Amino acid sequence: MAAPRPVQISPSVLSADFSKLGDECRALEDAGADRIHWDVMDGQFVPNLTFGPPVIAACRAATSLPFEAHLMVETPELLLADYVEAGVELITVHAEATVHLHRCLAQIVDLGARAAVTIVPSTPVSALEHVLDLVDMVLIMTVNPGFGGQAYLASQEPKVAELRRMVTERGLDVDIEVDGGIAPATIGAITTAGANVFVAGNAVFKAPGGLAAAIADLRDRAEAAQRGASAA
Ligand code: DX5
Ligand code: ZN
Repeated sequence: MAAPRPVQISPSVLSADFSKLGDECRALEDAGADRIHWDVMDGQFVPNLTFGPPVIAACRAATSLPFEAHLMVETPELLLADYVEAGVELITVHAEATVHLHRCLAQIVDLGARAAVTIVPSTPVSALEHVLDLVDMVLIMTVNPGFGGQAYLASQEPKVAELRRMVTERGLDVDIEVDGGIAPATIGAITTAGANVFVAGNAVFKAPGGLAAAIADLRDRAEAAQRGASAA
């Protein structure tokens, strides 16, 4: 059996203090995060509005961690170049947000960024079949997007397992990220299903023991689950 893909913890600054986002990014780097997750919401695709390229660009110098932008926006193709210019290394777009998903992902690659695709809980894995060759990562939402702090949907675990099988069968090099309700109590099962990149908002920023302990605990639990899965 192939070695499991490295565990990556990607805290979402959606749960950070927006009045000091640069400091929050620096604190996440000091606390051992692998990358920083930017939840970009347009008030149309999801019923919430957050930040865009200028805010992300303003924080770029605060940390050397890679930035990933999770675009919860309609017609994401319109602003892709702005996110790359803002210093985003990986852009993920929702399969549900654009008719021309294939072209949109190819545009991200042409701009020199890494491309990823996201699906909401009601979208089947089969929607990804004809774009998997274009992406470095797939993000499977474990809540309906729009807000932090929602309850984890265990119903998405079989989807992660199905996608992991599809990727392995096709011999592709694709990470599987999960986002929404990822916490000490939920990270083990979704890792066993096949996820290896974990977004966490509240579980990191609201942890009583602080950022570093929360990130280390999530990482330990995911790695333990991977060891269990590969021993099984
Ligand atoms: C939801 C966002 C998530 C969210 C996760 O639309 O995509 O990244 O911030 O927050 P928690 O980890 O608190 O569920
Ligand atoms: Zn997100």
